[in-house]
Amino acid sequence: MLVVGGYGAVGATVSATLGAWFPGRVVPAGRDEARARRLGGVRVDVTDPDAFRRVLDELGDVAAVVLCVEPPDAGIARITLERGVRLVDVAATARLLDAVTDLSGTAAAHGATALLSVGVAPGLTNLLARRAHEAVGGAERLDITLLFGTGERHGADALRWTLTALGEAAPGAPYRTDLPGHGTRTAYPFPFSDQHTLRRTLDALDVTTRLCLDSRPLTAALFALQRTGLSGALCRPRVLRPLTGALHRIRLGGDRFAVRVDARRGDRHAVYALTGHEQSRVTGLVAAHATRELLTGSPPPGVHHIEQLPALARLPESLAAHGVVLRRPARRGGDDR
Ligand SMILES: NC(=O)c1ccc[n+]([C@@H]2O[C@H](COP(=O)([O-])OP(=O)(O)OC[C@H]3O[C@@H](n4cnc5c(N)ncnc54)[C@H](OP(=O)(O)O)[C@@H]3O)[C@@H](O)[C@H]2O)c1
Repeated sequence: MLVVGGYGAVGATVSATLGAWFPGRVVPAGRDEARARRLGGVRVDVTDPDAFRRVLDELGDVAAVVLCVEPPDAGIARITLERGVRLVDVAATARLLDAVTDLSGTAAAHGATALLSVGVAPGLTNLLARRAHEAVGGAERLDITLLFGTGERHGADALRWTLTALGEAAPGAPYRTDLPGHGTRTAYPFPFSDQHTLRRTLDALDVTTRLCLDSRPLTAALFALQRTGLSGALCRPRVLRPLTGALHRIRLGGDRFAVRVDARRGDRHAVYALTGHEQSRVTGLVAAHATRELLTGSPPPGVHHIEQLPALARLPESLAAHGVVLRRPARRGGDDR
């Protein structure tokens, strides 16, 4: 199986975990040919579809492609699925996931399965959202809250994604809620793809995902910057590149993350939450489990999001050995403010 981005913060865990489960069958890939070859891998650049096609030809029998870096469009997914090869994608950009979802007919016609919304957010958020949605008999409103640790060494690509997303408008109001292990926090609307996908896959009417960081001052500073409209300037390559590099080196807080989902229907209210540490590593573990399910289970051909595969519904419990803990928040409430 070809793990693209296979030596990055997410991809290294994917390559190592799949390598332990399927010895000799993992090919890590990235743009740095020397680094990829040292790991027994190959050079791949997801912005070059023709070269990607040639790599698949040269490797021959590829059982699955795991994308641990976001391509600019759905071209790489199309090439993969048209060859009947399984695809797992950790992308978190709604526009990209929509474009890959549109390939469902192509995938089915070639007997291939693709799994999207794989990771922590999207990923574990989608799985908890499904539980909460079912617990209230179909949510009218879902509030998904994430807390990320500023002390984790986040990958450069994930940091770039986050800074770019900060420049985008995300509908919804800030929300004060209790996050296990972190007390009451204010979280701010953020354009993670799960809120977009879940409206469709769960038929939930109103879904909002919000973000805060373990550092309260940094959360306040970041979203104050967003309110000024200056965060749009972060998307400019001249600003984004050095800022990503600087943030990659700075570590302010811890490496713990928390996820909380509140589902409401009339006066019914269900809450599911979990905590873990190192969201990049946990994203990699989710991707490895998802890939194993595509290889050894019997998922239907087509393009699916993680919450649509019943075989992965208990994935949060499967990650207990890796420090992921399902928790009961101290307070049930959650207030807009
Ligand atoms: N779903 C989730 O919860 C979740 C969580 C975290 C991250 N993510 C997503 O996962 C992706 C990776 O994040 P990360 O933290 O692992 O970043 P990272 O540490 O920067 O890793 C990115 C990897 O991709 C490679 N790469 C970059 N551009 C490439 C290209 N054009 N073609 C082929 N390979 C390329 C990099 O190596 P070279 O530079 O040598 O090519 C590196 O190995 C991001 O897109 C992020 O948004 C999703």
